[in-house]
Amino acid sequence: MANSPVKAIILGAGHRSMAYAGYAKAHPDEIQIVGIAELDEFRRNTVKEMFNIPEEHVFESAQALAAVPKFADAVINGTMDEQHVETAIPLLEIGYDMLLEKPFAVNDDELERLMAVVNEHNSKVMICHVLRYNKVYLTVKNLIMDGRIGDVINIQTVENVSYHHLSTSFVRGKWGNTKKCHTSMLLAKCCHDLDIMTWLMGEDKPVSVSSVGTRFQFREENAPQGAGTRCLEDCPLVDTCRYSAKRLYLDHPNNWEVYIWRNIEHIKNPTYEDYRNSLMESDYGKCIYKCSNDVVDHQSVLVNFKSGATGTHNLTGGSAESIRTLRVIGTKGEIYAEMENKFVTLKEINPTPSTYFNETKIDLSHVPDEGHGGGDTGLMEDFVKFIGGGKPSVSCTSIHNSVMGHKIIFLADKSRENGGKMVEI
Ligand SMILES: NC(=O)c1ccc[n+]([C@@H]2O[C@H](COP(=O)([O-])OP(=O)(O)OC[C@H]3O[C@@H](n4cnc5c(N)ncnc54)[C@H](O)[C@@H]3O)[C@@H](O)[C@H]2O)c1
Repeated sequence: MANSPVKAIILGAGHRSMAYAGYAKAHPDEIQIVGIAELDEFRRNTVKEMFNIPEEHVFESAQALAAVPKFADAVINGTMDEQHVETAIPLLEIGYDMLLEKPFAVNDDELERLMAVVNEHNSKVMICHVLRYNKVYLTVKNLIMDGRIGDVINIQTVENVSYHHLSTSFVRGKWGNTKKCHTSMLLAKCCHDLDIMTWLMGEDKPVSVSSVGTRFQFREENAPQGAGTRCLEDCPLVDTCRYSAKRLYLDHPNNWEVYIWRNIEHIKNPTYEDYRNSLMESDYGKCIYKCSNDVVDHQSVLVNFKSGATGTHNLTGGSAESIRTLRVIGTKGEIYAEMENKFVTLKEINPTPSTYFNETKIDLSHVPDEGHGGGDTGLMEDFVKFIGGGKPSVSCTSIHNSVMGHKIIFLADKSRENGGKMVEI
């Protein structure tokens, strides 16, 4: 088994699964896609043709796949957040292992239900916390493990989500309304960051959490005077508003295209008219102040660890620049890192030089931008090893060591709903 390719089935052929499918296409000696389960006919046929999948292994739903005997090693589950647990459980019960997208559960009850099945069936499940494989975060992890900054006193993670990404995903888009997506922005966007925090803290476990945050910006009362209801139809501000669907999407159709143009993805080379018509029909054409957005757009989380160390995470949606930063302060030194700018700076305490510390800057600018800075590829390499019985890496996102980041978020949202009250884990 360790040397033969892992046989996998794609469940849910959205853009995330297709990123993993790309890895399989490039590395057939490691992983082969032998089945597809997808509700959407166009997406189903795309995968069927891409991997030459026989008709008997093509399914119209997860439920139809779970109704036939197991015929592969693992399932790549790239359904949406609220579908993960419901689709995963029947497949784990018939013996599949799984690569499961994050967030793997949308509340604590779901998480516990899934873990019970994983434990009962001894399933190998890896979560797509791809940032653990990003070269910036991996460098930080190695510096901490090598003892370069001593014991961690405080860890500060920051995620600034740009105005474009905020509008596309968390206001107009599929994570903009909790009744539809069943997640908070913190869970959908920052389960990576809280996972990174708990991963870097290693054996030092969180004991309590508090959090505050609000929906600050996109309320109807904040709409500019005279704003219409749909940018391209009735708004006189279509050429001036910073959040005009024309300026954000129609004038730059390649930005976040996988989300914005979902309803025309079957058109091979869309024209300007196709894009325009798409916006006329979809939620992306709505005034950003007048859509059904109810998701908190900025939130701060405070985490206390068993040792007395502390951690903070700051999520801010609507920034000019998209960036994740990280600062870790230890008893012997500190680390500062920027994911998008691809560098890590280490400052080690040393009373001798006039600067009071020795500074080492690690330049990672050679790392490619795509696929979460090497994260998608690293995840797939590790998944193949994990399933095949090989030795997974230090990043390995097995579900058992991916639970804590999710738990912090469930409690942070509970705390936020209770005015920031401290909640014990
Ligand atoms: N790891 C990351 O960094 C990262 C980044 C972005 C998104 N995500 C996560 O990846 C997941 C997928 O996101 P996406 O944008 O690719 O989603 P998507 O909506 O484009 O794709 C999901 C697909 O699942 C299919 N599906 C749903 N229920 C099904 C069922 N019962 N049977 C068969 N098919 C079913 C849908 O038809 C759809 O095609 C989400 O959970 C999202 O939060 C992860």
